[in-house]
Order: sequence, then C-alpha cells, then structure tokens
Amino acid sequence: MSPFLLTRTLDEHAAESALRTDVLEGLRMAQKALPPKWFYDSRGSELFEEITRLPEYYPTRAEREILLARATEIAAASGARTLIELGSGSSEKTRHLIDALPALHAYVPVDVSESALAGAARELLRRHPRLLVHALIADFTSALRLPQTPGPRLVAFLGGTIGNLLPPERQTFLRAVRAMLSPGDALLLGTDLVKEEAVLVAAYDDAQGVTAEFNRNVLHVINRELDADFDPDAFAHVARWNPDEEWIEMRLRAREAQTVKIRGLDLVVPFATGEDVRTEVSAKFRQEGVKSELASAGMELTEWWTDSEGRFALSLAKAS
Ligand code: SAH
Ligand code: TRP
Repeated sequence: MSPFLLTRTLDEHAAESALRTDVLEGLRMAQKALPPKWFYDSRGSELFEEITRLPEYYPTRAEREILLARATEIAAASGARTLIELGSGSSEKTRHLIDALPALHAYVPVDVSESALAGAARELLRRHPRLLVHALIADFTSALRLPQTPGPRLVAFLGGTIGNLLPPERQTFLRAVRAMLSPGDALLLGTDLVKEEAVLVAAYDDAQGVTAEFNRNVLHVINRELDADFDPDAFAHVARWNPDEEWIEMRLRAREAQTVKIRGLDLVVPFATGEDVRTEVSAKFRQEGVKSELASAGMELTEWWTDSEGRFALSLAKAS
C-alpha cells in the first residue's frame, strides 16, 4: 500500500462560489481584473509546465540550479522531517530537495490544482516509496489545516509564486507562514529578481505563444464553469514591465468592442476596443526588499543564494 493521502479542503461548491465572487467583483471594476489562481485547471497546469521548458522562461532553470547547488546546505540547516510546499505544481524541482533530506518523513504538497497534485504524487511515490505524501487541495491564501506530522518543518514556496500576490496580500500571506513556524522550523522562499526589461518581458511573452495561451486559459475556465461566451481569440496577450512597482503585468486586451454574456452570473460585460483585463502580476525582488518583507512578518533572513547569473534567489528564513 502506498503512503499517499489526499485531503480536499476546497470542495467544488466552495471553489465555484469563490470563482463567482471573483469574476463578479473583478469584471465590475473600472480597471477589470481576474485573480490568478483560476488559471490552473488541468489545462492551465499543463500549459504552465510547458512554460517552464521555454527558452525564454529562465526562472525554473535558475531556481533548479540553486536547489541543486545548495540542497545539502538547505538540508543541514533545516534537518526537516516534514516538508510543506505551497503551490507545489508538478513538484519537479522539489525532488532535488527531497533527495537531499535524509530524515524526511512527510511531504505535504499544497495546490489548488488537483491534476497537478495527482501527477506529482505518482512520480514522487515511484521515486520515494517510503515517503508519506499527504497532498492538500487548498488555497494557500486562506487558513490551512495541516496534517499532524513530525517536526522540524521546512515550508517551501518556490517558483517566484510569491510575486503573483499583491504587496498587501503578500504581507498577510507571510504572516500566515510565520504562524506555521515553530522554533527550529524554516521557510525556503524562491523569488525572481529585478533585471533587464527585455529579459523579463520575453519570459512572459514567448515567441511560441504558450504564455499567451496560458493567459487566455482563464477565459476558457470562466466559459466552462460559469457558462460564459468569451471568445478567447478576441483578446490579445499583453505583458509589460511596470518600473515603479517592479512587476510584470499580464493583461488580456479586447481586440475590438464586444459584449460577453456570463449566464451563470446573469451578467453582461461590455468591453471597449483596447480595453484590458489585468490577469496577473509577477513582482520581481531585490535582497533588501525580501529581507524587510520577511522582517515585517516576524521572520529573519538567514541565507540568500542566487544562481550563477544572479537572476533568481532562494532565501532561507526562520521565525525571529
Ligand atoms: N512551484 C511550482 C509551480 C509554480 S506555478 C514551480 O516552481 O514550478 C504556481 C502554482 O501555484 C500552480 O501549481 C498553481 O496551481 C498554484 N496556485 C496558484 N494560486 C494558488 C493558491 N491560491 N492556492 C494554492 N495553490 C495555488
Ligand atoms: N509564478 C509564475 C511567475 O510569475 C507564474 C507565471 C509564469 C505566469 N508565466 C506566467 C502567470 C504567465 C501568468 C501568466 O513567473
């Protein structure tokens, strides 16, 4: 019998009602916006995996390089018996960490995407047949009920996903992470770094159009879940660097004026030519910023590692 458990803390009703609220509120705002977690149905998770293999999308490769170079140090510093990973996706890079943690008893991947969790668990159990994998289908921005597993805990939040939260959400999120840490526990945080604009924009607007398709996937999700009639091809993918906020903004821009019916919400949404829906931000960081955001949430940065080209950073932090 394989030691695999899956706990669903997001039941389908709760997920649907959250989607309804988000779409209703987001599309009624003057600057229309949709929250990013709705990108990740099974198609969205597949498209994201494709993004990680694109030549322009450097963050995955850079973070993997750091994980491989520092796995032993991370393991020695944490001695983790439980690894909790937020927004774990395919857990592909995490394997390097798991391989390096000799005392590891339990791995708790947390994600909204059930298909990503199932795929990841299959692969992990093949490689680590004695590891307890307790997957949680949950929203990491709401209170998590974690399984009872032995400490010390290492909480990993990789991929630069923290950059997809807006600054006030980030602070709330980091305080919640802080609350998960006892003395001896640690946080391993992946952050993409501020760099040349052309490199950043290319990573979010690749030549093959995979990111464009990923961005439009949110419209397919709304069509399916809320019985809407978005024509995804009627929206152009826009990725631009905002130098004041130091984030990449992803938008969907109406190619021409149109009206969209969302039958599940009894809502008709007009779009002017060139009107944008903001779908995602991906904030880029500097060491000082990461350090001070962690400090405001009650954590102390203990290690800061970057890849050889200085594009991406992994931070280790503990409760202060
Ligand atoms: N950690 C992986 C995947 C990053 S993509 C990597 O580094 O490659 C972001 C992941 O977070 C996706 O798998 C997505 O399904 C998940 N996710 C996004 N918002 C979430 C939320 N609010 N709660 C839980 N998971 C979320
Ligand atoms: N966490 C990823 C990032 O910010 C998510 C991501 C990559 C993404 N490419 C995207 C989100 C394109 C929306 C659109 O790098």
